[in-house]
Amino acid sequence: MKIALITGVSKGLGESIAKLFLESGIHVLGISRNPNNRLGKIAQKNNVNYQHYPCDLGNISEIEKTVKKIKEDVERYSPTIFYLINNAAVVEPINQVTLIGNQELTNHFQINTLAPIILMNSMLQFSTNSNNAFIGVNITSGAAERPIYGWGAYCSSKASINMYTKTAALEQDTLKTGHKIVAFNPGIMDTNMQQTIRSSSKDSFIEIDKFKGYKENKQLRDTDTVGGILIDILNDEASIENGKIYNVNEYF
Ligand SMILES: NC(=O)c1ccc[n+]([C@@H]2O[C@H](COP(=O)([O-])OP(=O)(O)OC[C@H]3O[C@@H](n4cnc5c(N)ncnc54)[C@H](OP(=O)(O)O)[C@@H]3O)[C@@H](O)[C@H]2O)c1
Repeated sequence: MKIALITGVSKGLGESIAKLFLESGIHVLGISRNPNNRLGKIAQKNNVNYQHYPCDLGNISEIEKTVKKIKEDVERYSPTIFYLINNAAVVEPINQVTLIGNQELTNHFQINTLAPIILMNSMLQFSTNSNNAFIGVNITSGAAERPIYGWGAYCSSKASINMYTKTAALEQDTLKTGHKIVAFNPGIMDTNMQQTIRSSSKDSFIEIDKFKGYKENKQLRDTDTVGGILIDILNDEASIENGKIYNVNEYF
């Protein structure tokens, strides 16, 4: 039996990945602050389970309580393969670095860097103890490799998640656990995050016109297409390269 834990399932790419897993017969546990009633219906239709865990990934004690509950629930499934997709993230604060407040910076790194690392560490340890195969995916961004004016927080948090991915994968290889951890750059997609980017100001984000153009010229991909590419990579299990930063653009 296969089971997937996915963060950020209320909308965007996370919802698409959850939907595609459910449609391929995989049970899904989803984390986000808001529920997603569509996923429950898809699960029912496909005879699999969908369970939602309301959790603010910006709050460490909420994460710890949720992790404890998830471990108890996953144990009951005794999965052969356990997937974790760290998808939830925020792009804000969008501003030149000297204008970013400490509290908003802390919140950003809590959601984009600490929460995925804590979840990955916990589920790796759980999987080793439970003897199930584990495949972890961190959703990253091209911003991890390219400095962008106004995106100091986002570029840094995504760069950090890439290096964490490579380090954790190296450790698992050395320890010969068989567990795999990769990152996946989904490219530009038509989601709420792009809407947030377009509604920032030119002063804080000087590339804003380029991003408005992506929407106007229909260059933003839909999340089902991008999610489908990730599922194809995961389905070809033997070919998954531990520690690799996969880029969706290589599949078009
Ligand atoms: N869209 C793009 O063009 C693009 C490009 C490159 C990379 N990415 C990456 O792709 C991933 C998905 O992005 P998206 O565009 O689908 O984003 P989105 O539409 O803004 O959705 C973000 C998801 O993350 C969840 N989330 C945000 N803050 C949270 C918090 N504090 N606690 C729990 N959940 C939280 C949201 O759920 P709630 O609000 O219900 O909590 C939502 O389900 C992200 O990692 C993003 O960095 C996106």
